[in-house]
Amino acid sequence: MTTARRLAVDALVRIDRDGAYANLLVPGMLDASGLSPRDRAFVTELVYGTVRMRRACDWLIDPFIDRPLDADVRNALRLGAYQLVFLRTPAHAAVSATVDAAPRRARGLVNAVLRKVARGGEVTWPDDGTRLSYPDWVVARVRSDIGEHDGTAALAAMNRPAPVHQRPDGYTQDQASQWVAELVGAEPGERVADTCAGPGGKATWMAHGGATIVAIDVNPTRAGLVAANATRTGVADRVQVAVADGRRPPFPPGSVDRALVDAPCSGLGVLRRRPDARWRIGADDVDVLASLQRELVAAAADLIPPGGVLVYSVCTLTAVETTGVDEWLASARSDLDALPPPGAPWRAWGRGALLLPQAADTDGMFALVLRRNGRSR
Ligand SMILES: C[S@@+](CC[C@H](N)C(=O)[O-])C[C@H]1O[C@@H](n2cnc3c(N)ncnc32)[C@H](O)[C@@H]1O
Repeated sequence: MTTARRLAVDALVRIDRDGAYANLLVPGMLDASGLSPRDRAFVTELVYGTVRMRRACDWLIDPFIDRPLDADVRNALRLGAYQLVFLRTPAHAAVSATVDAAPRRARGLVNAVLRKVARGGEVTWPDDGTRLSYPDWVVARVRSDIGEHDGTAALAAMNRPAPVHQRPDGYTQDQASQWVAELVGAEPGERVADTCAGPGGKATWMAHGGATIVAIDVNPTRAGLVAANATRTGVADRVQVAVADGRRPPFPPGSVDRALVDAPCSGLGVLRRRPDARWRIGADDVDVLASLQRELVAAAADLIPPGGVLVYSVCTLTAVETTGVDEWLASARSDLDALPPPGAPWRAWGRGALLLPQAADTDGMFALVLRRNGRSR
């Protein structure tokens, strides 16, 4: 019989060793498992939590390890350490259940190591990167870009599970994303370009308000999801989807009333939703993304006529992808004026606004609302 913990170890190995994406892998494994809804929720908590706290768990178990470990053994140990220290599961339950879920050949080792971890008592962490379980570069970057206090609080907030927020049409979307879609201000009958639309969360929400959305995404699978989600949420007649590069959108200049560029980004504001993302993204990716973001937003600006509104958003907290893009626009595009940023729980950030994950228990986001003026660029 598959137990919750055995399934969790399998998932952890596939994420760690094979590079599987947690948010894609786990739902499929749960569907095939036959576990009860309660056990399914428990598996999700175990897997997401252990993946997030991987660095911290390794620091807890490594002093008691004197040989290289196979992925299944290491992940069973991480799972045990996670329950002991972060879920505060009583030692007798956490140790014996994890030993049962561990590979048979290593049960003695898993039992011995977890007992030692359990005896460790209150943990004194060596540093915040280990305690909060992020790569050092992420801790350094977030703190230097948004400040030590807010940065540490944001990283802590993104270790907590994300609440499920369901829209009236059944689409599950973080509250922050819904707010960003609303910042576009799409009116019934208007045409709105969404140039980074997949999987369609914001496009479908704007269409609900009565606007027609011309949605593109460079990734055919993601563009397909926009169409599928438009159908599922009952707005297929108002969402037109194409596969295209937002740097060269297939629409004439000035042909839409408003545009949204919800750009690909480093995702450092949504780490609570993507538990493995912190281990994937590299420091070098951030600058590459910022240059793509500048190109995307400049191309979208050409789609709106004077008076038209452009929203640039990213679900990250780095300076280059937020205020950096804003500063570049301010110097490169005299045909765009910034409109007042949204108020609390957002905070003014450059000419735009930043929503910290701890401010309203949402994803972290940056949004900049611009209006095209009559000047040439
Ligand atoms: C943050 S996601 C968009 C989320 C979407 N707006 C929503 O609310 O569901 C960014 C999207 O940009 C797409 N993308 C990346 N590079 C692109 C490009 N050059 N042109 C258009 N889309 C691009 C990605 O495939 C991804 O689907």
